[in-house]
Amino acid sequence: MPETIQQKVIIIGATSGIGRELATIYAKKGYFVGITGRRNELLLSLQKKFPKNIVTECFDVTGKENIPHLQTLIQKLDGLDIIIYNSGYGDVSNELDWDIEKRTTDVNVNGL
Ligand SMILES: NC(=O)c1ccc[n+]([C@@H]2O[C@H](COP(=O)([O-])OP(=O)(O)OC[C@H]3O[C@@H](n4cnc5c(N)ncnc54)[C@H](OP(=O)(O)O)[C@@H]3O)[C@@H](O)[C@H]2O)c1
Repeated sequence: MPETIQQKVIIIGATSGIGRELATIYAKKGYFVGITGRRNELLLSLQKKFPKNIVTECFDVTGKENIPHLQTLIQKLDGLDIIIYNSGYGDVSNELDWDIEKRTTDVNVNGL
């Protein structure tokens, strides 16, 4: 019988919403999942539910250390097959408010 290879997926932004749900689905399917976000307690609470399938790395995608954090997470997984960039921010900006536009661009476009 061929050995089953465990696929490795990273979800950037998995403390809430779509990212957290995706992480849960992948973990239930047996994937090895790396999850990130700024709220460490939420990362750890999900890891606690799937201790064999989930590893965590807490960081801000707009921070200077974002790439080293990503590399650390890839090392924790010992490889990478799929990466999902889900971290995002959005707010209504009918008047093209610079603060909203800047924050959105920083996280959604320039983050990582
Ligand atoms: N829900 C919708 O209807 C909808 C519609 C269109 C597009 N989207 C996009 O789909 C994605 C997920 O949406 P959602 O509703 O699930 O959003 P959400 O619940 O607010 O989740 C966003 C995730 O991104 C992370 N994140 C945000 N800013 C971050 C930063 N600076 N550094 C690191 N992580 C950061 C958050 O983690 P921390 O706060 O812990 O850092 C959280 O895990 C987002 O990109 C959103 O813009 C959603």
